[in-house]
Amino acid sequence: MTAAVLGVMGGSGVYDLPGLEDIREEAIGSPWGEPSDSLRIGRIGATKVVFLARHGRGHRLSPSGINYRANIDVMKRAGVTDLVSISACGSFRSELHPGLFVLVDQLVDRTHGRESSFFGNGCVAHVPFAHPVGPALQARIAAAAAAEDLPIHRGGTYVCMEGPQFSSFAESRTYKGLGYDVIGMTNMPEAKLAREAEITFATIAMVTDFDCWHPGHADVDVASVVAVARANADKAARLVSRIARDFPAEREECPAGSHRALDGAIMTAPSH
Ligand code: ADE
Repeated sequence: MTAAVLGVMGGSGVYDLPGLEDIREEAIGSPWGEPSDSLRIGRIGATKVVFLARHGRGHRLSPSGINYRANIDVMKRAGVTDLVSISACGSFRSELHPGLFVLVDQLVDRTHGRESSFFGNGCVAHVPFAHPVGPALQARIAAAAAAEDLPIHRGGTYVCMEGPQFSSFAESRTYKGLGYDVIGMTNMPEAKLAREAEITFATIAMVTDFDCWHPGHADVDVASVVAVARANADKAARLVSRIARDFPAEREECPAGSHRALDGAIMTAPSH
């Protein structure tokens, strides 16, 4: 049996995890370089929880400057089996309003220049990624939200842009026209790397704004993103606490195959 360990990646406005107990701070090294911060490892209820502030405490790292490989690697080294990513996002749908949590199930990668694989350089691997989000983990988040009476929207597509600038009006309308639901700057390559590390991944996308397509709302700016993210950070912490308290002791099989994503994925033949 593999013991379940819940990882939490805190995004904009979420730099710590109230409710985490018996905390020890660990600066785990990685051959991939520097992670965003030291890990805070503790427990909520009987569940071991590992927290990492994606942008670093004090929000020092821009989305393009984050070492996603190091972040996922140190989570893996800390034993994380399931990763919940908390991520501020803009919305392309009127009903997905600021303050709402969206449990997206699809991701589109529009980033460029980010290191997005642990493989290459002598070891080629291709992991399945049709379903980037673990359905069982997502169901746990939805159940926790219901138990805490927190409104969520289940399902949707998150497009990850490079940034750091927000989208132009034409880009915003294009993404909306393509049927994407929300936009952010950080879930890729995080989700891809988690899959390569055989960590089950799910996102709580916290809507902070309507990007710039919405005629009835001002264009997105940092002040509004931060204000909404901070105002909802305690709700996110409540949700994570409930997920952790209700988490199973043993790692569950992921219907999307995250727990065995490397089975048969490596193409390079052993040299001896
Ligand atoms: N993060 C929060 N709001 C965003 C937006 N509108 N576009 C990209 N990233 C975001």
